[in-house]
Amino acid sequence: MTTTITETYGVDPTPTPLALLLLGRQADPNSERGVECPGDLPPASDPDLVERARAAKAALGDRVFILGHHYQRDEVIEFADVTGDSFKLARDAAARPEAEYIVFCGVHFMAESADILTGDAQQVVLPDLAAGCSMADMATAEQVAECWDVLTDAGIADVTVPVSYMNSSADIKAFTGRHGGTICTSSNARRALEWAYEQGQKVLFLPDQHLGRNTAVRDMGFSLDDCVVYNPHKPNGGLTVEQLRDAKMILWRGHCSVHGRFTLDSVNDVRERVPGVNVLVHPECRHEVVAAADMVGSTEYIIKALDAAEPGSKWAIGTELNLVRRLAKAHPDKEVVFLDRAVCFCSTMNRIDLPHLVWALESLVEGRVPNVIKVDPETEKYAKAALDRMLALP
Ligand code: 13P
Ligand code: SF4
Repeated sequence: MTTTITETYGVDPTPTPLALLLLGRQADPNSERGVECPGDLPPASDPDLVERARAAKAALGDRVFILGHHYQRDEVIEFADVTGDSFKLARDAAARPEAEYIVFCGVHFMAESADILTGDAQQVVLPDLAAGCSMADMATAEQVAECWDVLTDAGIADVTVPVSYMNSSADIKAFTGRHGGTICTSSNARRALEWAYEQGQKVLFLPDQHLGRNTAVRDMGFSLDDCVVYNPHKPNGGLTVEQLRDAKMILWRGHCSVHGRFTLDSVNDVRERVPGVNVLVHPECRHEVVAAADMVGSTEYIIKALDAAEPGSKWAIGTELNLVRRLAKAHPDKEVVFLDRAVCFCSTMNRIDLPHLVWALESLVEGRVPNVIKVDPETEKYAKAALDRMLALP
């Protein structure tokens, strides 16, 4: 059965383009990524893949630094020099000036951020260019420029500060930097918003409406009425000038295709199925899910919460499945379940598999640098200004 955006959200009949290229085998001009692997991949059935990855990594030594996001497959995480959420990985990439190659096992926007934060002599490699992010694709540079024109016409652009989630293209980060805004991640969204409200009266939050709403309402005491949703597929975002002028928080109509699928029913069901369970969810989940949860936080926060949990305690986790499976394995003394059995892996994170990693590493050993992610200098300048503001947040 195909679930449409309307069925999932039940709020707005405007179709949102489904930007995922599930098999990653074609180019999508509207996407921040989306081309097929240009080389000959080793077959997934090759019994020597692990050995080949080890040998290539050893041959490269300190010349290569492998970053692994928490949502990556086990077979890839095994070869990561560091693992982390998008905030930690951005910092880790910036702190490795001696590595010639940063192999980013994550998605395209993360590799772009790593390129922006690393030196010119360093090259960032994304093992599969089809590893994009459907949320990042929900805000294009043209749409965001049009939105700013709408805010300008409404007379509020001067008092609005853009805050963009790390999960956005370099173009959106550059827009943010150009207009005096900052980037945030799910670890520091509250601090970023507090900073933004010291600079202006309103925030344009891109592209994840849920992280923006959850942070404003749950963490900062805003009411739901303080927030409006700007729909880039409607004239003037589907908002009146009065609505824009009254709002404190203008949320872009974007969401994560994975976290957006957890529902209030998922929370109610698991509480019935597992009495005494603690529900712990990522802030990319919808507001009603976050409101019904016991704890909310980034992937790094979720990992720390499980580390600190009492033996025998029970946990239902609402985030990507690769991470939840690893947590269940790492904590055999606790009961760790997935919040909803119908939600699955992030299909684009999963694009990076062992054959792609082996192919990327062996290419580097042979002197070819594949799938380089390079942000153009003008975009980089402004995107870096926004990222630097984030890194300087208290
Ligand atoms: P964090 O790694 O910042 O928790 O974000 C989760 C995510 O969806 C990354 O794509
Ligand atoms: Fe994008 Fe969601 Fe996948 Fe993260 S989990 S890469 S936000 S689609």
